Amino acid sequence: MQPPSLVLGIESSCDEMAAAVLRDGREILASCVRGQDDTHAPYGGVVPELASRDHLRSVAPVVETALAEAGVGLAELDAVAATAGPGLVGSLLVGLSYGKGLAYRLGVPFVGVHHLEGHLVSAELADVRLVAPYIGLVVSGGHTALYRIDSEAFAPVRLGETRDDAVGEAFDKVAKLLGLPYPGGPALSRAAEAGDPSAIAFPRPLAGTPGYDFSYSGLKTAVRLEVEKRSPLSERDVADVAASFETAATDVLVARARRALRDEAIARLAVVGGVAANRRLRDAMQAAAKRDGFLAVFPPPAFCTDNAVMVAAAGTRMLARGRADSFDLEAFSRRPLGASAEAG
Ligand code: KG4
Ligand code: ZN
Repeated sequence: MQPPSLVLGIESSCDEMAAAVLRDGREILASCVRGQDDTHAPYGGVVPELASRDHLRSVAPVVETALAEAGVGLAELDAVAATAGPGLVGSLLVGLSYGKGLAYRLGVPFVGVHHLEGHLVSAELADVRLVAPYIGLVVSGGHTALYRIDSEAFAPVRLGETRDDAVGEAFDKVAKLLGLPYPGGPALSRAAEAGDPSAIAFPRPLAGTPGYDFSYSGLKTAVRLEVEKRSPLSERDVADVAASFETAATDVLVARARRALRDEAIARLAVVGGVAANRRLRDAMQAAAKRDGFLAVFPPPAFCTDNAVMVAAAGTRMLARGRADSFDLEAFSRRPLGASAEAG
């Protein structure tokens, strides 16, 4: 199939409604992201029913804004891509149904994108040197996993993943324990700047065990016990706990990524997902990259968190490989990306 030139991407897997227009799989003509922080802040976390209702109101305006910013008319679109999952099904359905409807009306191909493939492709967009084979570390609010991406045709093999909480979820929960504002990850990272990262020796979960799995629930419990011990917390306590937690949480990510790169004899790494925006993780991984001699690619922070450029980019590639979906495609809340290394 001739690769589509102008592709509209739509992302609505969680609490962001996003639309983007991409030309030739690389050139970003427009990228709009509408968050819902004000809607969910009073609850301290995303309320699925509120997220999907908000998406219903914003999907058309966000798509229209993206097209207007790109200066592209609906009739010029060659294809539409939308996230099909994993995520909140009510949220996914809004962007997916809108995307399918639009493609049907325009008579252009439609493709449903796996959210994590989108995140990984965002790193490939960020640096042309990132070519297969490479190791992909996905760190977000819902996922923490390591992949080996073997070929240009995007064939991910899952090396390991979290056994309990995702790292972003741990950031958000620890932020809540510390009384920091919603959304927790960025707030915790800001609070940590004033703290001493070695103030508290939090456990490095699964350190010293073989393999590539992660675990964050024990670390979260250790933080809770420390917070209870120190309560009421001074500003200094908050900063020190935040910095010590952030260091423990990110150390494990660096250690696991280094192990995968070494074991697989690969010298290219992509770090993607919301937590890839974290400064301490970026600095620690770049220091390791320098020491070990590998290339570490992080998308720009705005493309680490959920966006639709990654969906349009992944969709363009899938269509170029001849993969289009029927309008029967359904949203899915869970589905692993790629084959498991153990199964293979
Ligand atoms: O990829 P993303 O936007 O949504 C998911 O697919 O989950 O990731 C959101 C997660 C949240 O847990 C958020 O707290 C975290 O990424 N996050 C951060 C930072 N920015 C976002 N965590 C640590 N430091 C940051 N600067
Ligand atoms: Zn995401």
